Amino acid sequence: MSSAAHDGTIESHSLEVETYPPSAEFAEQANVHDSSVYWRAAEDHEAYWASRARDLQWTKPFTEVLDWSNPPFAKWFQDGELNVAANCLDRHIAAGLADRVAIHWEGEPGDTRTITYGELTHEVKRAANMLTALGITQGDRVAIYLPMIPEAVISMLAVARLGATHSVVFGGFSADSLRSRIDDAEAKIVITADGGYRKGRVSQLKPTVDEALALEGNGSPLSVEHVLVVDRCGSEVAMQPRRDLWWHEEISAFDGEHTAKGFPAENPLFILYTSGTTGKPKGILHTSGGYLTQVTATHNDVFDLKPETDVFWCTADVGWVTGHSYIVYGPLANGATQVMYEGTPDTPDWGRWWQLIEKYGVTIFYTAPTAIRACMKVGRQVPEQYDLSSIRLLGSVGEPINPEAWRWYREVIGAGKAPIVDTWWQTETGAIMVAPLPGLTRLKPGSAQVAQPGIDLNVVDEAGNRVDPGQGGLLTIRKPWPAMVRTIWGDDQRFIDTYWEKFGDQYFAGDGARVDKDGDVWLLGRVDDVMNVSGHRLSTTEIESALVEHHAVAEAAVVGADDETTGQAVVSFCVMKSQQELLSADDAEAALKKHVADTIGAIARPRNIYIVSELPKTRSGKIMRRLLKQVAEGKEVGDTTTLADTVAITMIQQQVNTTR
Ligand code: WT7
Repeated sequence: MSSAAHDGTIESHSLEVETYPPSAEFAEQANVHDSSVYWRAAEDHEAYWASRARDLQWTKPFTEVLDWSNPPFAKWFQDGELNVAANCLDRHIAAGLADRVAIHWEGEPGDTRTITYGELTHEVKRAANMLTALGITQGDRVAIYLPMIPEAVISMLAVARLGATHSVVFGGFSADSLRSRIDDAEAKIVITADGGYRKGRVSQLKPTVDEALALEGNGSPLSVEHVLVVDRCGSEVAMQPRRDLWWHEEISAFDGEHTAKGFPAENPLFILYTSGTTGKPKGILHTSGGYLTQVTATHNDVFDLKPETDVFWCTADVGWVTGHSYIVYGPLANGATQVMYEGTPDTPDWGRWWQLIEKYGVTIFYTAPTAIRACMKVGRQVPEQYDLSSIRLLGSVGEPINPEAWRWYREVIGAGKAPIVDTWWQTETGAIMVAPLPGLTRLKPGSAQVAQPGIDLNVVDEAGNRVDPGQGGLLTIRKPWPAMVRTIWGDDQRFIDTYWEKFGDQYFAGDGARVDKDGDVWLLGRVDDVMNVSGHRLSTTEIESALVEHHAVAEAAVVGADDETTGQAVVSFCVMKSQQELLSADDAEAALKKHVADTIGAIARPRNIYIVSELPKTRSGKIMRRLLKQVAEGKEVGDTTTLADTVAITMIQQQVNTTR
């Protein structure tokens, strides 16, 4: 395995792996079967993307493809107009596809809804009318805090249909996190549910919204005028008169008549918050025409989608970019039939996913390495009880997939023959950037392989110069791409500083990478203070600030330590304030874990918290997180020459080893 250290140095141990060319049978039927697409796109990347954009329906065709006159602020197809939702819905109805299933939805308790394109269009139009009546117009922001139920998709599309902007907040985030996102975007409406089903229980959402809205906030008046509540679980919830409205009651007043209007290609479509290297999450802004072009194109090409016959299933939550791009916009724009599942893979038992694949005849399955490793641990005897013969293609996203998991995935889930597309991309890139094209690429377990046509990828050294094959470096993108982040919401300067400061004219992604002699890309992990836990991005700084906010904590350091199942795990080292020493270490650990979960969300809960008496620091007082990471991983501590003294790290090492 390879890893990148926080100080930017990259250790990479090259792996010689076997390759898997596409079968003749697969190659023959593949959507992309002519490799000239790569050089044709490279020769004129604007012409390439313009032709992909023309596959969409424009209410006003664009004449200008890319405006890069004010880098790094790109404008794609800027004089064109389209309606994103109509591209996902009305266009298919007009093509006679109203009866095609859009979503096979399955609730965790086993309740189901089958929604055709006709029905989905009808519901989105009604929801758009409802939102209009509540005062939502072009440019307004709507926060969406929902479980994985069809109303999540309906809400997103209804907001998009009005030219408004959604900000989906993952249901696992705390009241604090929700509130700061609501405030940052100045959302007028929050769409939520009483709760959702998770691991056999109701996981409450509305009470968290109430708590969020009651918090002090950032000083400016609360932007929220209404909270729309979907009744998912029939639980008792408090409804604040006038502010809180039941979705089903409000929507009942509206019919399905709604004419979609075209909006400029650069109209904001959504904001999605993601962790950066500082405490404050970044509101990644995506716009309409370019985003839809690239998610639609990559969904077609990388997943080899045949909308008439395929059943696509992406297991992500709509609260993450994967759900935005490959549950909502890409698949629906392509007229795909897909599975959407509310719950967790282990409920009622670990057979759930495989049972759903069998039940719905899923042909394309897209999930994360952490889930694959969890299933490997449970054992192949579970999936082997189900008929998975419908599967013809598998996808992976979120972190590098280790070759062992790759082989298991292919053999056990893909019957030893389904191509696996390992897709590298980010919230900021909006769409898949590096991945095999399954009809062309000779697959290599562990490598995300090649930049997609029209994507100009580079691997460079600290000075921005391309490194030689086999050498580790930093992954950058040289030319603008259609689905790229347009800015950080409300903070253009932070956008420049975060992604463009380092190399000027190249977008710096934050990942280390290496290109091998065949030109295949190997991702080596983050080179900044960002952790990747179960494919979710977490900031070490954000968790550290949550910890030091606790009244008992004097100092905290957080590292992402390698973890067999989750990729990385959050490990914290805390120094308590002296008057708190009476607290037992066990109590302190439990209290601090809960504190982090309450402040940020359960996904950020540390796996370990070590209460230590001192943190290892350099002579200039900088915490040596690199050493703490080694300790947390049970490794020998490397170079300690820059430490002020080695006592602290030695003591921590003893402490960690005795509790391991
Ligand atoms: C970071 C982006 C894109 C959707 C999910 C995460 C890592 C993502 C891969 C992959 C190696 C990957 C990178 C990236 N990552 N996919 N196939 N191979 N690393 O979105 O939260 O924006 O995180 O996830 O480190 O920078 P995100």
